[in-house]
Amino acid sequence: MPVRFLTLHSVVRCLMVVLTVMVTNIVEPVDGKVNISGQQKQEIEFRLKQLNKQALNSIESSNGEIIDCISIAKQPAFDHPMLKNHTIQMTRSSYPHEVLAEENNAPAPSNDEEQPENIVHPWQLVGECPGNTIPIKRITKEDLLRVDDIMNYGKKLNISRPHQFYQPTDTSVDNGHEYAITYVNGGPYRGTKAQINVWKPRIEAGESSISQIWIVGGKFGPGLNTIEAGSHVNPTLYGDDNPPFFIYWTKDNYQNTGCYNLICPGFVQINKRLTPGYLLTPISTYNGSQFKFTVQIWKDPKTGNWWLQLNEQELIGYWPKELFTNLADEGASTIEWGGEVVNTKKDGQHTTTEMGSGHFPSEGFGKASSFALIKIIDMNNGIIDPVGVQTLVSRPTCYDIKTGYDKLYEVFFYYGGPGRNPECL
Ligand SMILES: *[C@@H]1O[C@H](CO)[C@@H](O)[C@H](O)[C@H]1NC(C)=O
Ligand SMILES: *[C@@H]1O[C@H](CO)[C@@H](O)[C@H](O)[C@H]1NC(C)=O
Ligand SMILES: *[C@@H]1O[C@H](CO)[C@@H](O)[C@H](O)[C@H]1NC(C)=O
Ligand SMILES: *[C@@H]1O[C@H](CO)[C@@H](O)[C@H](O)[C@H]1NC(C)=O
Repeated sequence: MPVRFLTLHSVVRCLMVVLTVMVTNIVEPVDGKVNISGQQKQEIEFRLKQLNKQALNSIESSNGEIIDCISIAKQPAFDHPMLKNHTIQMTRSSYPHEVLAEENNAPAPSNDEEQPENIVHPWQLVGECPGNTIPIKRITKEDLLRVDDIMNYGKKLNISRPHQFYQPTDTSVDNGHEYAITYVNGGPYRGTKAQINVWKPRIEAGESSISQIWIVGGKFGPGLNTIEAGSHVNPTLYGDDNPPFFIYWTKDNYQNTGCYNLICPGFVQINKRLTPGYLLTPISTYNGSQFKFTVQIWKDPKTGNWWLQLNEQELIGYWPKELFTNLADEGASTIEWGGEVVNTKKDGQHTTTEMGSGHFPSEGFGKASSFALIKIIDMNNGIIDPVGVQTLVSRPTCYDIKTGYDKLYEVFFYYGGPGRNPECL
């Protein structure tokens, strides 16, 4: 079946109200249901002023979300002390090239497998911010009130870490992270590319379910650098249980640096239509239509910046090399792909938080979630199949993974599961 694009322009025009007001004071009065003191109120307003840059104009969607169009030169990234003298790179200097694989004898995919369709990005349909501006989702007081410490909004707080933090043999350090991932560990790598199936896993309160790529620089330890991207369900961050596209970075093993999307300074966005944190839609249905998005992250050979591109044509922006230590001048040492959940074991039982579609890999296409067309970008800027792929599964009775290769999906895997079930208590 050919790739199908939905033509929803007109629908979205009706759904979206474009406000072309000059926004002079983007801080709303803090009041409402929550009883907060005058001092907290001041702190929140101050924090919102730090986080939300002056908008040239704003777009309000029917669901109340507000998008601010921010001057590209005044975006949050440039608050980062290491980016004070940074010259913005408006486009990639080169592009990785496909390296044709040798003819292989893998069986053709079976006929009952329908080719996934491309997802539609609400942002592409909504329109564009004016020239030299970028859209950024406005942070609200409600967002800040969901975290205990407003300075921690957007930070990681035990949500997602590379798999080495999980110690299957040492129950005393069980930090609740469970993984079903594949990885390669023989860098340096200049990047990766993969197609990720869009699902909306159900989660229990206070938990999180993630499908992502990790680009890891250096050794697992205090100086660990990561670049991360994928989809997650994270109500603390967004206030709902829908799955957006997210990005993340850290240069000190999640201690003091890094956060999601553009919430703290780091990632430089150049795209006028897509901003990290946008909702992935439509969502795949069990035994029905499948949707996917493609993520490509690679190190620019000229500048050393790490570019992010979605769906073959959407260059979103980059993580400047100045943010990093290990990932500044070298390639990545490890790349991981797959799912992670945080299981708080609230009642001493395993959570029912789902990973992927909530179905086990053994159910296969259209039922289990998948990563497909998984590629490595090598130090020659070639896009190649990963070799020496390993898997890591914390508890296969809760969430599992199954790797494969065929002509349509090339290197792929199914992953996920329902969490608590008679075999996973
Ligand atoms: C809000 O808090 C103040 C003091 O902390 C208290 O006197 C007041 O009754 C509270 N208001 C509501 C609506 O809970
Ligand atoms: C930026 O440039 C100034 C002047 O050359 C220099 O003093 C400063 O250290 C530079 N900052 C960074 C982060 O490179
Ligand atoms: C993160 O995990 C550590 C170790 O399990 C724990 O001590 C700490 O309180 C957790 N932090 C948060 C914010 O949940
Ligand atoms: C999946 O869909 C097919 C065709 O619509 C149907 O025959 C089959 O019973 C469905 N399987 C499940 C597990 O729902």
